[in-house]
Amino acid sequence: MTSSPPHPDADEPTRRRQLVEWFTDAVERGDLDLGELERRGRGAAVTLRRPEADQVALTWPGKRAVQGAPASVDEIRLEPAGDGAPGDQLIIGDNLPVMRALASSLSDTVDLAYIDPHYNTGRGFTFDDRFPAPSGGRSDGRRGRRGQRDRGAWLNFMYPRLVALRDLMSARGVLVAHIDEHEHETLVMICKEIFGDANYLGSIVWDKGNPKGDAKRVAYQHEHIVVFAKDPKQCSPLRRPKENAQQILEAAASSIRSTPSLEQAREDFSKWIKGTRGLSGGEAMYARISEDHRVYRLVSMAWPNKKTAPPEYFQPLLHPVTGEPCPVPARGWRNPPGTMDELLSRGLIEFGIDHSTQPQRRYFLDEHMHENIPSVIRFAGADDDRLRDLGIPFEHPKPVEFATRLLSWFGPPDAVICDCFAGSGTTGHAVWEANLRDGGTRRFVLVQAPEPVFASAATKGQAFESVDEITRTRLERVAARYREHEQGFSPTLLVRRLIQR
Ligand SMILES: C[S@@+](CC[C@H](N)C(=O)[O-])C[C@H]1O[C@@H](n2cnc3c(N)ncnc32)[C@H](O)[C@@H]1O
Repeated sequence: MTSSPPHPDADEPTRRRQLVEWFTDAVERGDLDLGELERRGRGAAVTLRRPEADQVALTWPGKRAVQGAPASVDEIRLEPAGDGAPGDQLIIGDNLPVMRALASSLSDTVDLAYIDPHYNTGRGFTFDDRFPAPSGGRSDGRRGRRGQRDRGAWLNFMYPRLVALRDLMSARGVLVAHIDEHEHETLVMICKEIFGDANYLGSIVWDKGNPKGDAKRVAYQHEHIVVFAKDPKQCSPLRRPKENAQQILEAAASSIRSTPSLEQAREDFSKWIKGTRGLSGGEAMYARISEDHRVYRLVSMAWPNKKTAPPEYFQPLLHPVTGEPCPVPARGWRNPPGTMDELLSRGLIEFGIDHSTQPQRRYFLDEHMHENIPSVIRFAGADDDRLRDLGIPFEHPKPVEFATRLLSWFGPPDAVICDCFAGSGTTGHAVWEANLRDGGTRRFVLVQAPEPVFASAATKGQAFESVDEITRTRLERVAARYREHEQGFSPTLLVRRLIQR
C-alpha cells in the first residue's frame, strides 16, 4: 500500500510521521532519486542519511509505523509527584505513554535501565506472555486474534518502548535486559539499531544450573542478560567484587590468629584454599601469605606475545641470597628494565630458594578485590519461598539476591534506576537491598501496567485482580519489614497513576 502525503490539517507530530512514511515510500518505489536530491541540496542546510550499502537490519511488518514520530503527549499526564521530592516511585500505567510523559522530568537522567520484559514464550504466568495477547483492544498495542508467539507483534511492542527508554537514559546510562532463547537474537538486533552497534557491551549467559524438564529441543538451562551503553566511554567500568575475596581474607586472618608460626599458618591456609568448594580458579590462586600477613598470588612475568621482547627486556635478575642470575623467560620479561627495578624495590617480585627458579610477580588480593564481569555467570535458586513468605503470588520473579548484585555491578551507588516492566517489584526490592548493604543512594522508577492477573496455579484463590496491586503490595510489605528490622533504614514508596484522556 502506498502512503499519502501529509494532510495539511493534521497536527505537527502526525504530519511529520506522514511525511517520513510518504518520503520513504517514494524512495523505495524509485520515484525519488536520493543522488539527485543530494546534488541539488548541496550548500543547503540539509544532510541526507542514506543506509550503508552493507548495513544489516531487521525488518518486520509494522516496523515503519512504530519507528514514526510518537503521537502527541498532550493527552497524557501523570498524577503529580507529591511534594516533588525525588524518591522511589511506582507508576501504574502502560509503560510507553508513561515513559513519554516522564520525558519532561526524567530525560537524560536514568543511569540504569534494568528490565525483564516479555520473553514471548506464548504462555501465561501471573501476567500474559502471549503475543498478540488474546484479550483484544489493549492500550499497550498487544491486541488481536488469539495467537501464541508472533515475533512481529513482540517487536512492534518492544521497539518504541526501547526507544523511549533510551531517551530517558543519561550519558553514563546502561541498559541491562533479561531475555531467554525465544527472542535473544531479536532483542540484540533491535537494540543494535536503537543504541548503535558500537554501544553493545555484550550478552551474559546466566546459567541457572537446571535444564528445562519439558524441552522438546535443546534443554536450556540458561537465560541471557543483554547489556548496552548509551556511550561506553562515559559509563562506569564493568567490574564486580570478587565473590569470595572477603572470605579468603578472613580465612587467612584466622589461620594467622590460630598459631604463632607463620609457616604453620601458611600451610593451614593453603589447605583451606584447596579444600574450599566454590572458589573460582582465579580466587583459588590466592593461596599464599606474605611476611607482613597479606594474601597474594604469583603471576609469571614472561613477555605475553608470540614475538620476542626487545633486547633490553632480557636482563637477568640476581638472586638476593646467592647473587647469581636467575633464568629469564624464553621471550623476555613483560616489563622494561625500569619497571622491573621498581617492582624489585617495592618487594613485589618473589624469588625461589635459590637462583634455579624464574622469579614471579606478587599480586596482593587486597589490591585486587574486583574483577571484570565475565560472560557466564552461574546463579541458581528461585525466590518462590521469599514471595510466599511475603504473601505475593507471582510466578518466576527474578531472585532479589541476583538482581541486587546486577544493580550494584552495572550502576553507580547513586544511580537512578528505571524498570518499566516491574512485575512483582523485584527491582525496587533489590534497589533498597543494595542501598542497605553499601550505603548507596540509588532511587528507582518502576512502571507496571494495570493488567488483569493471569489465571494460573499461583494466582488461584488470591485476592489480587491486577498485577499492579501485586507490585504495590510487595513493595509496601518489604518497606515495612525493612523499617521494622533495619534501624535507621526507612524506605518509602510513592505510587502514581497515568492519566489518559
Ligand atoms: C517478566 S515480568 C517482570 C517480572 C519482574 N522482573 C519480577 O521479578 O517480578 C514483565 C512484567 O511487565 C508487565 N508489563 C507488560 N506490558 C507492560 C506495559 N506495556 N507497561 C507496563 N508493564 C507491562 C507485565 O504485567 C509483567 O508484570
